[in-house]
Amino acid sequence: MFSGHLPEWLDSFPALAVLSLKNNLFNGSLPDSLSSLETMRILSLSHNNFYGSVPDLRRLTNLQVLEMDNNAFGPQFPLLGDKLVTLVLRNNKFRSSIPGEVSSYYQLERLDISANTFVGPFQLELLSLPSIAYLNISGNKLTGMLFENLSCSPGLEAVDLSSNLLTGTLPKCLMSNTNDRTVLYDRNCLEETNQNQHAPPFCHTEAIAVGIVPEGKKHKRVSKAVLSIGIVCVTFGGIAIVALIFFIIRRVNFKTKIKSPPTKLISENAASGYTSKLLSDARYISQNMKFGTVGLPPYRAFSLDEIVAATSNFDTASFMGEGSQGKLHRGQLKDGVLVAIRSVKMTKSYSTQDFMHNIELISKYRHRHLVSVLGHCFECYLDDSSVSSIFIVFEYVPNGTLKSWISDGHYRKSLTWTQRIEAAIGVAKGIQFLHTGIVPGVYSNNLKITDVLLDQNFTAKISSYGLPLLSNMGKVGQGNHSSGFKSSSINKSVKNEDKSDVYDFGVILLELILGRTIKSRNVKTLKDLLQASITADGEARRSIIDPAVRKACLDQSLKTMMEICVRCLVKEPAERPSIEDVLWNLQFAAQVQDAWRGDSLSSSDGSPISPLASRRMAFHH
Ligand SMILES: *[C@@H]1O[C@H](CO)[C@@H](O)[C@H](O)[C@H]1NC(C)=O
Ligand SMILES: *[C@@H]1O[C@H](CO)[C@@H](O)[C@H](O)[C@H]1NC(C)=O
Repeated sequence: MFSGHLPEWLDSFPALAVLSLKNNLFNGSLPDSLSSLETMRILSLSHNNFYGSVPDLRRLTNLQVLEMDNNAFGPQFPLLGDKLVTLVLRNNKFRSSIPGEVSSYYQLERLDISANTFVGPFQLELLSLPSIAYLNISGNKLTGMLFENLSCSPGLEAVDLSSNLLTGTLPKCLMSNTNDRTVLYDRNCLEETNQNQHAPPFCHTEAIAVGIVPEGKKHKRVSKAVLSIGIVCVTFGGIAIVALIFFIIRRVNFKTKIKSPPTKLISENAASGYTSKLLSDARYISQNMKFGTVGLPPYRAFSLDEIVAATSNFDTASFMGEGSQGKLHRGQLKDGVLVAIRSVKMTKSYSTQDFMHNIELISKYRHRHLVSVLGHCFECYLDDSSVSSIFIVFEYVPNGTLKSWISDGHYRKSLTWTQRIEAAIGVAKGIQFLHTGIVPGVYSNNLKITDVLLDQNFTAKISSYGLPLLSNMGKVGQGNHSSGFKSSSINKSVKNEDKSDVYDFGVILLELILGRTIKSRNVKTLKDLLQASITADGEARRSIIDPAVRKACLDQSLKTMMEICVRCLVKEPAERPSIEDVLWNLQFAAQVQDAWRGDSLSSSDGSPISPLASRRMAFHH
């Protein structure tokens, strides 16, 4: 029963992340101070008496859930960041068109703008937003022509287009009302449907009545044309002219729609040059992809059906193992992409909303040197819709663990020295990303050589880093072990937290150099051995390392690697090098090795496992 205006001093809580005021009697317009609450993630204002325009919320770059339904906001569509997952504007007084930016909300799962007076074209791209599951535009005055061949996002579960001014044919992808997709579209002017429709002239007349044509240079000319013809129409009122107008409008609609065919990936939209904002978003996204996530499809929510289909209903043949992070199944998506799916059963009752924040974090775990996350899926109980299981979909990395590629992996060829340095660089970059590439950073990942996988190009990728799936959820955070997840730490409050990963990296390096896996109780002894050999002569140094690379590594490169290794394994965490320092030295070792290789062997050998050893032997003798 809170009433009256919202105070201006909301911005005196600079760390506020969740603000729910729903079901009260607040009135007045929103204070401008809302626009500076940059940490806001969830903002719910539903069921109050707020009115007026919404302050500019574009600076709230963390905002994921915005619920404003059942107020009197309007008339302009709010200005928002593009990370939204849920946007509910239902039952307000919005009367604008839908801005083009909305089709760049690539994480949007739920969009409800129903029961307003939105005008202008319905953006067909909304049907194919990568994450969209629920789309409700009913009860507006949105116009536009639908086509049979439009594509819809596979995750789309419910679509309500009813009571608008849509014409054309219902898309095939919306035709079947199956168990997993509900589609409502009555009271439009669609052709050949089995839900109640108006005759086409109704939609055209209404569309003219509300002055549909949106702003924007591209459409200005059209707008004038329609308007002047509209005036002519009013003046003469001739039936023949009315028919002509309908024809022209259809043509215009048809043309503008054709220019921007809906596509599944937002980045693809860039090519059609739909709006400059969209273009810059797409560029941002594709730059993101260049920046470490090359070739990965956009992060998205998967449906349970997709998960079940991919694993043949968790067939035993698809079972890969049960590690420290829950059960793992191999799977293949409809489009042929191989994935690894990790399933975690919930032992406590949570709603999907409880996981919003964690899912947002997880969606950032995408990097060239991580086994990256492609998406997630919730399985919920039917009775109270609490979460029963979470499935995390990872890219599938085909070439086994790094361990299987050193000498005591037995059943494979060994990696060359150069490849070992490259693998080490990959792992270090992966760790660097976990520490600094995501906020908050993930520390103490307890990495082992068996956690590093190699892909078809022998790129090293860290798997089973600590996913923050159940962290920061109160008490249950400590229950991590029961859920089968590694307990990693996502805060650096403990001093030198980042150095525990550096130590683990040192152990992996030791194993790469010596060519065998090492029990933790032996690390100290072997580190001392390495330390002693650094000051010994080249021959002695060489004698302790993996025989498979003994002949093919340059002494300077070997020495550098040993030095890094020893420094990483120093007992006192503060004295271990930073991961950046490690990376720099590894790159030095790689360069030295490379230069030597370049001098001694002019022929280039592109194959990943190159039989260089024999040729190098020749060089040495
Ligand atoms: C807003 O609510 C307060 C308290 O209920 C009331 O006194 C005031 O008249 C309301 N203002 C408007 C514009 O409705
Ligand atoms: C979709 O249909 C329209 C009209 O029916 C046609 O012009 C267009 O080429 C089709 N697009 C595709 C991708 O098939």
